[in-house]
Amino acid sequence: RHIAVLMGGLSAERPVSLRSGEACAKALEGEGFRVTRVDVGHDAAQVLAELQPDVAFNALHGRFGEDGVIQGVLELLRIPYTHSGVLASSVAMQKEVAKTVMAAAGVPVPKGRVVRRLEAAKSHVLPTPYVLKPVSEGSSFGVFIVREGQEHPPQELTRSDWRHGDLMLAEEFIAGRELTCAVMGDRALGVIEIVAADGGWYDYEAKYAAGGSKHILPANVKPNIYQKVQELALEAHSALGCRGVSRADFRYDDRPDGSGQLVVLEVNTQPGMTETSLVPEMAAHAGFSFGELVRWMVEDASC
Ligand code: DAL
Ligand code: MG
Repeated sequence: RHIAVLMGGLSAERPVSLRSGEACAKALEGEGFRVTRVDVGHDAAQVLAELQPDVAFNALHGRFGEDGVIQGVLELLRIPYTHSGVLASSVAMQKEVAKTVMAAAGVPVPKGRVVRRLEAAKSHVLPTPYVLKPVSEGSSFGVFIVREGQEHPPQELTRSDWRHGDLMLAEEFIAGRELTCAVMGDRALGVIEIVAADGGWYDYEAKYAAGGSKHILPANVKPNIYQKVQELALEAHSALGCRGVSRADFRYDDRPDGSGQLVVLEVNTQPGMTETSLVPEMAAHAGFSFGELVRWMVEDASC
């Protein structure tokens, strides 16, 4: 079968997508598929209409690739594609909308509110410490942790070359641990704890530079928490109407008296698929090689 691997794209996460796409293309070739690498631009509809692949393997991240836009093009062209469909993609991509949907389904999420970028730059919009993040961005682009005692909000928000949108989500900062869980269809693949190097947080560098973070798999949390994370990842996946593979990111405030909170920060409908990404690592832990994982995704594709 002929697979078009959609990669690159037009978002700030283009470099990540090129790495995800190349890793998936290689793995698909290893599985015996005929692969065409498609760098997605504004002419993607025309390119795909001419190419007529049997399946589009979506390795895009961010705007146009993860937000329902390319999914809509593929629906129109009747080309089966991997991962979530139009509605789940666009809902999950807008963090505030996604939180509302998840909360309605009983999935715990952090408290917060949406503010305009320039409003968030003018004065504190929540008591410190809090987090500011673009409502529709990935890979930690444009994210600020405003620390306790920090006098001014981040002034980078006023930059004229800001390219992460005008709406910011302000959320309470939850001290504690960073956990993540991949979902593959109707099963959770395990839980990783992420520890950023040098005691920092899991920013862009920590995500993609060699040695930027340590992944602990299986996460060293109590069995009931491990189980709870997997259940919530599945509930969030289904509340948002996701399909195929997704990855839910968590904060876990691990207090000794057991009163700590466990919240879902977001669900990624197009999680990173580089060789060092979290999803392939959790898949391996659950017994699926990278090749088996991408083969499953191709077989699960629909439109
Ligand atoms: N947005 C990046 C690719 C992720 O969630 O893995
Ligand atoms: Mg994300």
